[in-house]
Amino acid sequence: MKIAVANDHAGFEFKNKLKQFLQSKGHSVEDFGSPSAEPSDYPDYAVPAVKSVIEGKNDRAILICATGLGMCMVANRFPGIRAALVYNEKTAATTRRHHDSNVLCLGAREFSENDLLKFTDIWLATAFDGGRHLRRINKIAALDRQKPF
Ligand code: RB5
Repeated sequence: MKIAVANDHAGFEFKNKLKQFLQSKGHSVEDFGSPSAEPSDYPDYAVPAVKSVIEGKNDRAILICATGLGMCMVANRFPGIRAALVYNEKTAATTRRHHDSNVLCLGAREFSENDLLKFTDIWLATAFDGGRHLRRINKIAALDRQKPF
């Protein structure tokens, strides 16, 4: 899979671990994140990563900040993006099965690196269930087309 990653200062350290992990699993990684732990603004990094998914240059994106929240807010402003903040193994699987999420948001200061890698592994390995869930995400897509409300 082609995966975009992005981070702010809070996500910098974990981003490096994540890149190694993804590459060890055979994924290619495009890094749009901050290159240091100096204070930075998460929207600056989320936007190009998410755009690369919309443009089809990457299959999915993984965004990391302290909480995952700001990254998720930015990502979900873009049509076609279904970004999910996950907080345990169950939500990592469920957001793939039910929402076909294409962006994973991680809170680097909320979980251990092992837990974050586990969430990532599950999220990458879990397929979309389709069926009634497709009907529901089609309704999300209809909201994109409806803008402005
Ligand atoms: C930075 O302190 C923090 O606000 C940011 O990393 C992120 O968690 C925002 O949601």
